Amino acid sequence: MNNNARMFGFGLALLILTLIVAVILGLMAGPTNPITWLLVAVLVLIPFVHRKLSSTRYFKWKEEYSVGIASIDSQHKKLIHLINQLQTAIDYSTGEIFEREALNELVEYTITHFRYEEKLMRENEYPEYEAHQAQHNAMVDKVNLVLEEYAEDADEAMTTAVDYLKTWLIEHINGTDKQYSEFLISKGVN
Ligand SMILES: [Fe+2]
Ligand SMILES: [Fe+2]
Repeated sequence: MNNNARMFGFGLALLILTLIVAVILGLMAGPTNPITWLLVAVLVLIPFVHRKLSSTRYFKWKEEYSVGIASIDSQHKKLIHLINQLQTAIDYSTGEIFEREALNELVEYTITHFRYEEKLMRENEYPEYEAHQAQHNAMVDKVNLVLEEYAEDADEAMTTAVDYLKTWLIEHINGTDKQYSEFLISKGVN
């Protein structure tokens, strides 16, 4: 868990504790005070708001991400699942070993997926193959660079790597990958 998340968790725990104490004191002073009931309502709402805010960090597969090729769509779905798995490992502070494992699994599967796409593009003589492959390579280089910094500041490196991977992969799936759809489908790839 990075420092920001740790501070946020600590702040939230402190807020809940303060509210509980205020409610107890309010009830002891007289149960008819509307402020006490307002504080009770805030306490009840905290888990819902927290869940809502947390869910924005997770991705859901959308039909609009489809490149129209079943094998690639299923690999992209697995990538989104691995991104969410890594986010869960970080959010729930599962520890450095689990975070590292989740990150390694995501990076390894991303490379496997890149090689699969590149093979299809090469075999079918896709004209934009080199430019597409260059994007794949640049992404792997960037992640490796971040991981090299891991020894110096593990929290910071992990947060940077996750944010970068999340943004990059979704943009790539939904942008660059879609550009080969028509060409590969016309070659009979499915
Ligand atoms: Fe892809
Ligand atoms: Fe790609």
